[in-house]
Amino acid sequence: MDQIRIEGGQRLEGRIPISGAKNAALPLMCASLLTDESLVLRNLPRLSDISSMAHLLGSMGISFSILGDDEPHQGHMGRVISLDGKKLTSTRADYEIVRKMRASILVLGPLMARMGEATVSLPGGCAIGPRPVDLHIKGLEAMGAEIDLRDGYIHAKAPGGRLKGGIIDFDKVTVTGTENLLMAAVLAEGRTIIKNAAQEPEVTDLVICLKAMGAQISGEGTDTLTIDGVERLHGATHDIIPDRIEAGTFMVAAAITSGDLFLEGARLEDQPAFTEILQKSGVTLEQHPDGVRAAANLKDIKGIDLVTEPYPGVATDLQAQYMTLMTLAQTPCTIDETIFENRMMHVPELSRLGANIDVDGNTARINPVSSLKGAEVMATDLRASVSLVLAGLAAEGVTTVNRIYHLDRGYERIEEKLRRVGAKIQRVSSETTPKAGNTLRQVGT
Ligand code: EPZ
Repeated sequence: MDQIRIEGGQRLEGRIPISGAKNAALPLMCASLLTDESLVLRNLPRLSDISSMAHLLGSMGISFSILGDDEPHQGHMGRVISLDGKKLTSTRADYEIVRKMRASILVLGPLMARMGEATVSLPGGCAIGPRPVDLHIKGLEAMGAEIDLRDGYIHAKAPGGRLKGGIIDFDKVTVTGTENLLMAAVLAEGRTIIKNAAQEPEVTDLVICLKAMGAQISGEGTDTLTIDGVERLHGATHDIIPDRIEAGTFMVAAAITSGDLFLEGARLEDQPAFTEILQKSGVTLEQHPDGVRAAANLKDIKGIDLVTEPYPGVATDLQAQYMTLMTLAQTPCTIDETIFENRMMHVPELSRLGANIDVDGNTARINPVSSLKGAEVMATDLRASVSLVLAGLAAEGVTTVNRIYHLDRGYERIEEKLRRVGAKIQRVSSETTPKAGNTLRQVGT
């Protein structure tokens, strides 16, 4: 299995292109199931999750054509692909695919909308929590779907082949739950109202694309979405928003190396709460027309308490990265994880690097240390893995991160992006792991 090796202590300086948002691209790809015309997506990131989603959609009859590669568009260097769902050949999502990528659940709503039926494996839990999909199911039932949970699968049918509009009031904010029911409602008969809807920018990006396809939706950016079903949707071309979680991750990279980075395409408006907290802690963040400048001197960074919340609060997907920065701050702070039950697995790995963190349930108290020391650590989930890379950038000596397949799910060519701004970082496949103690050559420029 591949590893990433980092020789810490390099100050990062330069420009990093921010890729299209993974968590916008995944539901947008599923929207191709809703029409028999072409959906063209631009600024698609190169990630293993995107390939997994393409594999799943391909098994249902969606065909793909790559219209452009690395095509500079509004400063983004994403892929342009056309997805064509002229004729769907399957309404089934197998456990084999769903267990590897939970976002596969996002085919459920569009399949119910277009085909009136779906057989989708229950995703099962993952490292950060049990991750149930009960709210997705309840929402579909409120739209008249008949759901049978059997053999680990969701067997769903719309009586008469078409869902009916209904009132959905989520008792918990769910991002993919909101996205699934949005896509179910756009072709339903009548009006659907989704209350306590997720307001993440990725949800709004999906609404904008669905409206470009002819859907009748209002309320985007608020906690109430109103959808009037139509007979059919047509094709469209849509630019995927920049990845705010990738951008937030590189803001921390700038701060933890006392660096100065320009994040091409990043938008502070996509994460007001995280921006405010980073600025309060002493990070300089400036919005420019083509991106965001992030700079800091680690010696000036203060500990600021953070609580993860649904948007517009601080994203849980940035909690681990922020914690890494706080391990080297000048004053202590606490971090409360309120979204997932088990999203502190990066703590023991950060402790191996010398961090001083006490965890009580979902609250972590970070007691700053003067430095981190490189060591071998293990990634457990996507965002935990990148928090270890960030720690390695600042740690003295060499840090080796194992199980980096987690990383490849959500970060496009991260070692290339970091190397280009001065990091001493390389990917080594374990077969050719150099003997311990070798200092890292800077591979490439
Ligand atoms: C989305 O996951 C993101 N994934 C996650 O990003 C992100 O961490 C999460 O939203 C929260 O922002 C994608 O968009 C593909 P939820 P999702 O449904 O939709 C509970 C990453 O690193 N819940 O908003 O699965 C759930 O257990 C990933 O990119 C139910 O109880 O998250 C959690 O505690 C990780 N029943 C809370 O709601 C349900 O039916 C929020 O989950 C659904 C969710």
